[in-house]
Amino acid sequence: MRKHRILITGASGLLGLNTALEAAKEHQVFGQVNSQRLNTTAFSVIQADLLVPGAIQRLLEHTQPDWVIHCAALANVDLCETDPQQAQQLNSEVPGELAEYVARGGARLIHVSTDAVFDGQVGDYREQDVPNPLGVYARSKLAGEQAVAASNPQAIIARVNLFGWSLFGKRSLAEFFYNNLSAKKPCMGFTDVFFCPMLANDLGMVFLKMLEAGLSGLYHTAGSQCLSKYEFGMQVARRFGFDESLVIPTSVEDSGLTAARSPNLTLRTDKLVHALGEPLPNVSTGLEKFYTQYQQGYPQQIRRLVA
Ligand SMILES: NC(=O)c1ccc[n+]([C@@H]2O[C@H](COP(=O)([O-])OP(=O)(O)OC[C@H]3O[C@@H](n4cnc5c(N)ncnc54)[C@H](OP(=O)(O)O)[C@@H]3O)[C@@H](O)[C@H]2O)c1
Repeated sequence: MRKHRILITGASGLLGLNTALEAAKEHQVFGQVNSQRLNTTAFSVIQADLLVPGAIQRLLEHTQPDWVIHCAALANVDLCETDPQQAQQLNSEVPGELAEYVARGGARLIHVSTDAVFDGQVGDYREQDVPNPLGVYARSKLAGEQAVAASNPQAIIARVNLFGWSLFGKRSLAEFFYNNLSAKKPCMGFTDVFFCPMLANDLGMVFLKMLEAGLSGLYHTAGSQCLSKYEFGMQVARRFGFDESLVIPTSVEDSGLTAARSPNLTLRTDKLVHALGEPLPNVSTGLEKFYTQYQQGYPQQIRRLVA
């Protein structure tokens, strides 16, 4: 494989950091961060607030990427509800502007979107199904997809769901279950919310294959296995040998969460499987790797990157 110059935005986040660490094994990676300082030799860290006028253009001029993977976002669903203006700027306007500059410079772009663009009433969604986002986060992400498609039709728009180890150990659902269960604390597992998550590291590697294959357009880039959040919690408990009875089966209706959640966000991935000519990673192998990473001290290694 040819070594590419890859710019990864949001390289301090759950997806961006794990993607940057995977990509850096084969490529020259530039990882953009905003408020978080990172100390790593794996890739070049660049500080930039993408909301500052001119920042996107400067970042691209400075890094001269072949490929761009745009992971930066306001991805905290409840924070989006309290700050809709920032959600609109970061999740809708920034992607459009970035896509336009990337198109001008001739690089290839993956814009990361979400399964939450659907209302989850039906499930088993294909790319051609009509989205119906609930809540500020989902609406701002759908507007971001539309802005990217309008300004850069060659871009890949990847709707994802993911889990993995993050910088402070609190960003992903797998960490939520790990943190509670390892402390012997009971935790809610929704029996009526379904999703198809992929390990962040696997997702990063799928992104590289999509770029290598020269794909463009909208792709459901989800795990090949779908399950309820309760079942996901049970699988975490089983793999780590925690007390399974601490995962309390709960309806999302009784959860008291601020932002509206879509109940069935299962995605069909046939289009991507066909395009890549191989199956996508599933949640069981992903959780197996998540456990292996734990045994090998990966969460601590990541934590040491905090400058
Ligand atoms: N997590 C999930 O389960 C999930 C599910 C579906 C889709 N997604 C999508 O996946 C992508 C990555 O999500 P994530 O969970 O990895 O997010 P995350 O952990 O919250 O990370 C967000 C990243 O965005 C950066 N950022 C925030 N404001 C910025 C600004 N003004 N300028 C530049 N960078 C800024 C942050 O930088 P600093 O920390 O340095 O400030 C951080 O690196 C997002 O597009 C999200 O919508 C995530």
